[in-house]
Amino acid sequence: MTFSKQTMPQDVQPSSPGVQSSPPTVSFKTVGCRLNQAETDKIASQFTDAGYIIVDAETECDVAVINSCTITHGAERDSARWARRLRRKGAATVVLAGCAVVHNGKTLKEQTGADIIANQSDKFRLLELLPEINPAVNHSSFIVHRSPHTRALVKAQDGCSFRCSYCIVPDTRGRPYSRPLKDVLDDIKRFADRGFKEVVITGANIGCYHDGSSNLIQLLEKTEAVNGIERIRISSIESTTAEREVIDFMAASSKLCHFLHLPLQSGDDETLKRMRRHYTSAEYRKVAEYAVERIPDLGLGTDIIVGFPGETDVAFKNSLNLVEDIPFSNLHVFSYSRRSGTPAAEMPQQLDPAIKKERSAQLISLGKSKRESFAESFVGREVSVLIEKITEDGTACGWTGQYLPARINMAEAEVNTVIRYIPKCNDGDILR
Ligand code: 5AD
Ligand code: SF4
Repeated sequence: MTFSKQTMPQDVQPSSPGVQSSPPTVSFKTVGCRLNQAETDKIASQFTDAGYIIVDAETECDVAVINSCTITHGAERDSARWARRLRRKGAATVVLAGCAVVHNGKTLKEQTGADIIANQSDKFRLLELLPEINPAVNHSSFIVHRSPHTRALVKAQDGCSFRCSYCIVPDTRGRPYSRPLKDVLDDIKRFADRGFKEVVITGANIGCYHDGSSNLIQLLEKTEAVNGIERIRISSIESTTAEREVIDFMAASSKLCHFLHLPLQSGDDETLKRMRRHYTSAEYRKVAEYAVERIPDLGLGTDIIVGFPGETDVAFKNSLNLVEDIPFSNLHVFSYSRRSGTPAAEMPQQLDPAIKKERSAQLISLGKSKRESFAESFVGREVSVLIEKITEDGTACGWTGQYLPARINMAEAEVNTVIRYIPKCNDGDILR
């Protein structure tokens, strides 16, 4: 049994008091990507199967688990902060787990005072590593409110062997590994049985998914055939893997949402080479154009790194120009972070933080205006939205297939239903 993102502590409200018995309590905090979130859900299910109650992350509890990230220095710092914060908030045992531990475990243990540090494999056997728990915490007012099951994350793949020169993931998550197709589908069927309408297939490099002769496309085909699942999403997919097949599948599919996250990283060919990416800016542009041509209402997301070592003004301008040209709807801008052990960390011409900051601000602002014009293009056009919650004032909130947030005033909208509606710009439901 696994939990959806909606059941995780950072997304939930404490419920009202009233539980009398005293099972042990656990809280979770995830830093980083959706793969990490899918893994936290898995760990959470191990704890609930063992009789633990999940409580709000920032309250007293017997065990607090931080599933950490180290993709950038900032992500690692956030992970450490959470460990200290959850201790301050009253966690009896603090577990720091995952990528940051693999990269920097000893230092983090000293810095944070975490009781247990757990690498990637240990984090799935925490119950064996924990000391015997004598529930000491009165948790009655902080039990996590189980929100309705709408969207579930499932892990299909882990690891990456691409070795982009800036990236620590091949070190923290190791070589590529695909879970057996049958196991992934069993998870998805179980989610469907529990009422989830949407499934997000995650991995560190899911374009490389394969099990025998089955690849990501067969996984998508089989997922599409699962009764009850109405929407499918995939986490980010690398250009030069299975992206064209995915685009073709998406164009024909009634379930795979029209959103593609295709990391660009840089729009400058020299920089792409030093990043050890396996495409040129022209090749990336072709894939993006193909995608938008085949799927005209496509939401297109990307990751882009600014301030990579040696990135000149001209190189940055090339990135800006390419981003300008491609109809991106979501831009994740990362300031280059020097990760020890990666080739880029040793490159000369590491840039000044002020330059990174300035470039990052420019791209973020461009991303914002692109996002807004993408959203505006849906005014007056029908979209579908999976309703995830209804606010106190009766507004139904959810996401369109293209990953635009929607706020709808529609009396008949119910949580965990996919509804179709036409956004109007003047009644507060504009998508942004
Ligand atoms: N510095 C900044 N951003 C990075 N990413 C990966 N490594 C680094 C780094 N060292 C970004 C990439 C990737 C995303 C998940 O994180 O853009 O696609
Ligand atoms: Fe990191 Fe590159 Fe692998 Fe993505 S493809 S996880 S950026 S090494």
